[in-house]
Amino acid sequence: MKRRSFIKSALAAGISFPFLAKDGYAGIGGKASGPLVISSANGLRATEKAMGMIKNGRDALDAVIAGVNIIEEDPTDHSVGYGGLPNEEGVVELDSCVMHGPTHNAGSVAALRNIKNPSKVARLVMERTDHELLVGKGALRFARAHGFKEEELLTDEARKIWLHWKETLNKKDDWFPEDNPDIPKNFKELFKTTGTISCLGIDLNGNISGVTTTSGLAFKIPGRVGDSPIIGAGLYVDNEVGACGSTGRGEENLKNLSCFLTVELMRNGYSPQEACMETVKRIVHHAKIPSLLNEKGQPNFNVRFYAVNRKGEYGSAAVYGPTKFALHDGKENKIYKGKGYLKR
Ligand code: GLY
Repeated sequence: MKRRSFIKSALAAGISFPFLAKDGYAGIGGKASGPLVISSANGLRATEKAMGMIKNGRDALDAVIAGVNIIEEDPTDHSVGYGGLPNEEGVVELDSCVMHGPTHNAGSVAALRNIKNPSKVARLVMERTDHELLVGKGALRFARAHGFKEEELLTDEARKIWLHWKETLNKKDDWFPEDNPDIPKNFKELFKTTGTISCLGIDLNGNISGVTTTSGLAFKIPGRVGDSPIIGAGLYVDNEVGACGSTGRGEENLKNLSCFLTVELMRNGYSPQEACMETVKRIVHHAKIPSLLNEKGQPNFNVRFYAVNRKGEYGSAAVYGPTKFALHDGKENKIYKGKGYLKR
């Protein structure tokens, strides 16, 4: 019996699915008739830029990288590039990967300091080396060799958020917080942020490419690397099938190789929407460590997926919804709502 009909019959028979959002996980995905760009919700300017380039005949990889570069350079996005929240020592460390559908080639950088466009460096790893992933000082030396200029990525605003985090960690230590700290009101949300931007595009030739770029977990242990630079975890592209990108708690994507799984589900006939939701279910099923669970026994983190297939169908799902994503379908560029699997 097909999964959807099974759920329908089970619901009719009074079997309940306690963790399932009230309206189930029926697809909310859609279909574009031509080129398409999809991104996490912080990427509306990225999807606009990328679609403009695709319409001018550019390869999807050129387009999505140029799109996310806007967010990498935006000091107000504290989850990506310049202005990203730093590690526990106050140093910004960036992760990124790119994957090019037509060549099935990929490149990544991790724990890269002082370079604000890690996605550009990841692309050079793909195109100008025989390697796939460069990390830390090696990645920085490689970027410098290619003419990238080092700069301070910690903005004053991000520094104040980090300092407030540090000063309020422990009441008994030697750091005292300011009485009226000049930090954003959503400080608590930023406290354990894993923002990130992932952007996937289909160009005029029907080729698919993607990029994911992030400053990673705020206040992480120096050297911590999440899913964003790992092919199969934070991004995966198979030009004959489709692509998936992800944002949210990277450790879960590393342990489930989530984006590879999503593309494999699409290879086996799932729509992008169904594949994203199935991957979310796998993550929830595997979340067993007590520190990852809330008082209801549900995950205390969120992970979001964005997927497209070769037919131009797209979808998005998250552990907790409603979630949002940015989509340019060739006609309109706007924010859509995606489904969550669990209710908070
Ligand atoms: N998904 C971003 C990170 O966990 O680093």
